[in-house]
Amino acid sequence: MAHLINALPGLVWSADASGDMTFLSQPYLDYIGQSADAALAGGWLDAVHPEDVDGLLRARATALTQGLATEHEARLRRADGSYRWMLFLANPCHDAAGDLTGSAGVIIDVENRKGVRDALRSSEVALRESERQLQQIIDSIPGLTWRADAQGSITYWSQSFIDYADATLEDIIGYGFLDYIHPEDRDLVMKTWVSILQSGKPGESETRLRRADGQYRWFLWRVSPFFDSAGKLTQWFGINVDIENRKRAEEGLRQSQNELAHVTRMTTMGELAASIAHEVNQPLMAVVTNAGTCLRWLNAAEPNLDMARQAVERIVRDGHRAGDIITSLRKLVRKSAPQLDRLCLDQVVPVVLDLLQSELRRREVVAKAQFDDTVTIRGDSTQLQQVILNLIMNAVEAMAGTDAGSRRLTVRAQARGGEAIVSVTDTGPGLGTGDPDRLFDAFFSTKPEGLGMGLSICRSIIEAHGGRIWAANNGARGSVFSFALPLAEGNGTDVANR
Ligand SMILES: Nc1ncnc2c1ncn2[C@@H]1O[C@H](COP(=O)(O)OP(=O)(O)O)[C@@H](O)[C@H]1O
Ligand SMILES: [Mg+2]
Repeated sequence: MAHLINALPGLVWSADASGDMTFLSQPYLDYIGQSADAALAGGWLDAVHPEDVDGLLRARATALTQGLATEHEARLRRADGSYRWMLFLANPCHDAAGDLTGSAGVIIDVENRKGVRDALRSSEVALRESERQLQQIIDSIPGLTWRADAQGSITYWSQSFIDYADATLEDIIGYGFLDYIHPEDRDLVMKTWVSILQSGKPGESETRLRRADGQYRWFLWRVSPFFDSAGKLTQWFGINVDIENRKRAEEGLRQSQNELAHVTRMTTMGELAASIAHEVNQPLMAVVTNAGTCLRWLNAAEPNLDMARQAVERIVRDGHRAGDIITSLRKLVRKSAPQLDRLCLDQVVPVVLDLLQSELRRREVVAKAQFDDTVTIRGDSTQLQQVILNLIMNAVEAMAGTDAGSRRLTVRAQARGGEAIVSVTDTGPGLGTGDPDRLFDAFFSTKPEGLGMGLSICRSIIEAHGGRIWAANNGARGSVFSFALPLAEGNGTDVANR
């Protein structure tokens, strides 16, 4: 029996009902390096690590008083003085009558496993810590972060958004977030979201989101797909950044640009006042002349009604012409927020040429217009007319120093490569060799009285239309200023209706 006990891969012991040790196996004695007497007299407890003694005694007391099997881990000193982690297993012992007579147990060396467990435990701690840090980062990102499943249904919003909207996660997940989006933006958000989901690519848009106090603020939201290791799109991660203040600043900038454009338009009109007055005066003088002619035909001894009618028809035509000029002038000097309309360039450009007819004649410039009549764009006609007006006036001014007989101006509008291209070509001195882009800088002018705002305004108008503007030398002679705008959807389809 002793042979068997000594052969067990553990240290065996037994104690009486009061907890005093009654037996320690030889391997136990060898391990702690004590004699049986010393160990039984209490030396066994000395071998337990001081920090673990209380816990171990408590566990043993439980086993004894409640008659329960217990397990406890404690460090036990080896004969060489080093401690190893041990698992103390104890069972209560009963006599034939069922009375508790004591306890017996076995102690198993778990030092090596303990190392593995501790590593596991500390990696769990590290994981929790990095989770906590990640959460901290997510919560302190200056934006509202969120997550959606592959189908686009929201599965997570960061605390910062829940705080922003004073909502609960349940309010928002799925498609509940739509309630927090400005009603005017909802359709666009859904349309954009669906097209991003279908594309499987990152996307972005701008949307107003309701804050807890009911105020809507502009947010830029961006979202990227997340792919698992097999390359399958499993989730979407998004971030919303508050751009309200930037948006306001942009709006303010747009307004002041708009006002500046208006002021320079007025200035140009002021400079052209004499020419424009002459332009209006011409049809009016013709009206007076034709009215005289008409009267003469009517007052004749034999009134010639046919000739009188023809004179009246000319009066009507010239009256309309004067009216048209005044209408387009009024449009150019009006001050209003830009408005996007479907425009055909062969209707936009001639208005400007009409207004400038007298000026061009006075300055001995021969103007020519060439239109590809299918060029339809979306834009604000007043603003685009201002661009064309600025380009034409620059061309006219550039040609002032050249021979009167050779001042030629061409305005051309054509559809090319999916874009509408408008160009103004002159036979002036050209741009020289410097970077032509500098001409578009505000306050750049080579003219004694020049403001240097014309081209800068042209550029901001064209860029606001999603286009670009540039200048180049026109071969050996003169320069060409061009701008490109996106063609309107279905460009050319409205030709048939005109
Ligand atoms: N058609 C052109 N030919 C040569 N130079 C030009 C032409 N158009 C513009 N420039 C140059 O670009 C400068 C800036 O033009 P702009 O911004 O309209 O200001 P401004 O007309 O008040 O000088 C002009 O001063 C001139 O030097
Ligand atoms: Mg100018």
